[in-house]
Amino acid sequence: MNSEHCVSVHPRRAEDLADAAAALIEVHSTDGYPVEGVADPEAWLSPPQLLKAWVAELEGRVVGHVAISRPDGEEAVRIWTDRAHVPDSQVAVLARLFVVREARGNDVGRWLMAAATASAQMDGLRLVLDVMVKDTAAIRLYERLGWKRIGMAKHAYGDGQSTEAICFVSPEPGEKLVTEAPHGSE
Ligand SMILES: CC(C)(COP(=O)(O)OP(=O)(O)OC[C@H]1O[C@@H](n2cnc3c(N)ncnc32)[C@H](O)[C@@H]1OP(=O)(O)O)[C@@H](O)C(=O)NCCC(=O)NCCS
Repeated sequence: MNSEHCVSVHPRRAEDLADAAAALIEVHSTDGYPVEGVADPEAWLSPPQLLKAWVAELEGRVVGHVAISRPDGEEAVRIWTDRAHVPDSQVAVLARLFVVREARGNDVGRWLMAAATASAQMDGLRLVLDVMVKDTAAIRLYERLGWKRIGMAKHAYGDGQSTEAICFVSPEPGEKLVTEAPHGSE
């Protein structure tokens, strides 16, 4: 698969939820994401604080997903609001980002991130997220898109387990990014 395949990203509709849940189960089996498991994938994709979600389709199949939610006690939110002296109401949390393995390396993740960040900017919200240290492809994606590390957090899950996570904030709106040349432009 390569970038000539047509990727489309659109707001998640009710009828996309089952397909997104199937994609999540696939990602859990290949990558162990999310660490808390996929016992009820549709519920995990629809947390109570959910603001918006998007799916990516490649050749008509849902292959990826991202969401933004209102703050719900996340360490990344606390770090950013303390540092920037802004209220929680000006922040949203980007989460539930995944792309099935077969579709990776086609900028699907990048387009999902673009949809979420554009929407947050329109709503005057700065995005934060946390990513587990083990999820190195995601960390590379965030850094390539100009997200900045703001601290560390513990991601608690399961029966008292926890793992190290890195907290990021999205680029400042209007910030000029110095990134690599787009793929295929060399
Ligand atoms: C993180 C994740 C969403 C990235 O999805 P993706 O669709 O592969 O993302 P992109 O294609 O935009 O970029 C990823 C890689 O593909 C490369 N790439 C993108 N388009 C490319 C192209 N046309 N040709 C070649 N390589 C390309 C990028 O350089 C990047 O490479 P690198 O990670 O080795 O630096 C995916 O790896 C994933 O679902 N991981 C498991 C779940 C997870 O960790 N989620 C994050 C939780 S916080």
